[in-house]
Amino acid sequence: MRKIVILLMGAVVTTMFAMARKVEITTPGTTLLLSAPEGGSLKYLYYGEKLKATDVKSVIEVEKAKNDVYPAYGLSCQREAALAVKHSDGNMTLDLRVAGVAEKKETDYTLTRITLKDKEYPFTVDVCYKAYSTVDIIEMWSEITNGEKKAVVLNQFASAYLPIRRGNVWLSSLYGKWANEARLCEEPLNPGMKVIKNKDGVRNSQTAHAEVMFSLDGKARENTGRIIGAALCYSGNYRLTIDTDESDWHHFFAGINEDNSTYNLRSGETMVTPPLAVTYSNEGASGASRNFHKWGRKYRLANGDKLRKILLNSWEGVYLNIKESEMYQMMEDIASMGGELFVMDDGWFGDKYPRNVDNSSLGDWVVDKRKLPHGIEGLLAEAKKKGIKFGIWYEPEMSNTVSELYEAHPDWVIKAPKRDLVLGRGGTQVVLDLGTPKVQDFIVGLFDDLMTKYPEIDYVKWDANSSIMNHGSNYLTADNQSHLYIAYHQGFENVCRRIRAKYPDLTIQACASGGGRVNWGVLPYFDEFWASDNTDALQRVYIQWGTSYFFPAIAMASHISATPNHTTHRSVPLKYRIDVAMSGRLGMEMQPKDMTDEEKDLCRRAIADYKEIRPVVQHGDIYRLVSPYDNKGLASLMYVDEMKQKAVFFWWKTEHFYDQHFPRVAMAGLDATKSYRVREINRIDKKPLAFEGKVFTGEYLMANGLEIPYNFDLDWHKRTDLCSRVLYLEEVK
Ligand code: GLA
Repeated sequence: MRKIVILLMGAVVTTMFAMARKVEITTPGTTLLLSAPEGGSLKYLYYGEKLKATDVKSVIEVEKAKNDVYPAYGLSCQREAALAVKHSDGNMTLDLRVAGVAEKKETDYTLTRITLKDKEYPFTVDVCYKAYSTVDIIEMWSEITNGEKKAVVLNQFASAYLPIRRGNVWLSSLYGKWANEARLCEEPLNPGMKVIKNKDGVRNSQTAHAEVMFSLDGKARENTGRIIGAALCYSGNYRLTIDTDESDWHHFFAGINEDNSTYNLRSGETMVTPPLAVTYSNEGASGASRNFHKWGRKYRLANGDKLRKILLNSWEGVYLNIKESEMYQMMEDIASMGGELFVMDDGWFGDKYPRNVDNSSLGDWVVDKRKLPHGIEGLLAEAKKKGIKFGIWYEPEMSNTVSELYEAHPDWVIKAPKRDLVLGRGGTQVVLDLGTPKVQDFIVGLFDDLMTKYPEIDYVKWDANSSIMNHGSNYLTADNQSHLYIAYHQGFENVCRRIRAKYPDLTIQACASGGGRVNWGVLPYFDEFWASDNTDALQRVYIQWGTSYFFPAIAMASHISATPNHTTHRSVPLKYRIDVAMSGRLGMEMQPKDMTDEEKDLCRRAIADYKEIRPVVQHGDIYRLVSPYDNKGLASLMYVDEMKQKAVFFWWKTEHFYDQHFPRVAMAGLDATKSYRVREINRIDKKPLAFEGKVFTGEYLMANGLEIPYNFDLDWHKRTDLCSRVLYLEEVK
């Protein structure tokens, strides 16, 4: 963690309050009110719906500031703490007092920095808030500075703490596993501890997620009710803890996972913890999601304002069997269906050790000329001929013990001294030690070489398919081995920052064995993520539903794949597969030469229609309507553009039984006073639906919805099970 803060302080301070009593931090719809008496403790007064001046005044008088904003260990040992240290003289306590408040207004946000100083030790914590003036998000983090002469040991160093008043609070969080990521879990918060954590070292969103929502009014509803949402913007190990103790509060702490990561803060060093983005909405879980999405697209996601291309990825089509002729054929097929980009996945590299199986070659990023005699030049030329762009797969943080890279630099991998390596994928995969500057230069160099040689490369799929399994770094000193995980992610971020500074327009996908890197820590450097290796459309409804709680459709790669599905072996109608993929960033992931002309035709029409609805899906506001997790037999959501002139409505059955009854789905997010014409997209029925081309008011659609036929109207031999619908609504003036 760099020593930048003290300098920054001098530069950014515009206002210094000698006797600050309250700090009012606001966004368009929310207020965070703190009590900050000079020399006293920094306490919470209020967080929630925006307060009027009258209420601010009364709240300050009436509310007893009970909870510390950044609880520190040592003088109230019985409570959970955000910060726990051991000073250089062995003292385990902190007594942090308000020393100053600085506020700096920028165009789109206000930065508030409250400096807490220990009463006896030259040890300070800046509690920082970045409150946006355009969206209801406040980013919170701490900056911990050691002014003592020797190192201070940080045992706990949360980004932020937030007390949530007990009542009928429910927690929504995401959990899962490879190919079943982002499952929604909704539960009441009961006495005791709820811990959500990650210890993978590399992939931090496969088993659980660093984002949560608290519903203050019982189980969260989608479009009504009060929600506090929180997303830790970090790519590494994290821990979210909710302690429901004997008090009136649920105590929520979020930050880097300190397990096996004790940090020795050098004299003069500052640790800047990752931001926790917090939102409040009285429009239910979807309202909180909209806040995260808007903030993400505008301020945190790489190229969040640009539309994403429709692509074909080669993985499920050919796996590692890359052949030049087949790459050319796949390009031809996707171009003929109206796609805009072809991505060649794993299997294209390796000279001494060809990547034929997943047990070798990572790190040897040279084209395997046996598979691709005309190299990347040939692929780029072919793509150009077809009028599409070309992208390529990389796994730059990794190597295999069977590789030229490992032979040359065995000391670059993460390994415990005196121990045999525990190996990953293919029985040979190892993780490079990204905390090492030489390794960082190697990865940046790879990109530089590639992009300098082939500036036409448009897209990179950046994969990461291993955990950190061996605790040991050749670069870190013996005393600082506990910095391994933090150093890895600092190194990773350095690499990403350097690459992005040079190649801002390159599209980069964050993939990590599927949905292992779906977090707001990486997205400033990545345009999108691969939500899961599971492309089964039915299971994707659940995965994408959970993912949409915190992440926008523009970033959620969602591909049409073959049937039966390669992971679940379920057969799902092509229309359904298309209809699910179209609710995210549409792509394909199959060998198109195995498709019939009729299937290709349906995809061609879908791609053309997606181009029309793309701005609404990718830049619009989400309104989730019926959750697949509520077991109603269907799921439904919609996107509405900012001006409420256009909307796309998705409806997917999640079960199929004869004579089953589904609820009629009322829409949301439309303008009640506007009228909309309805058009079905991807129609395969023999006849148009009854409401095709008809005009309805937003008021009617939001009160009643439309009666969606449960099954496709097809000739008997073409009938299938899972039915789905996509409706496009356009304002009629
Ligand atoms: C990971 C990714 C897949 C694919 C393979 C290639 O599993 O999630 O999409 O790229 O690696 O080996």
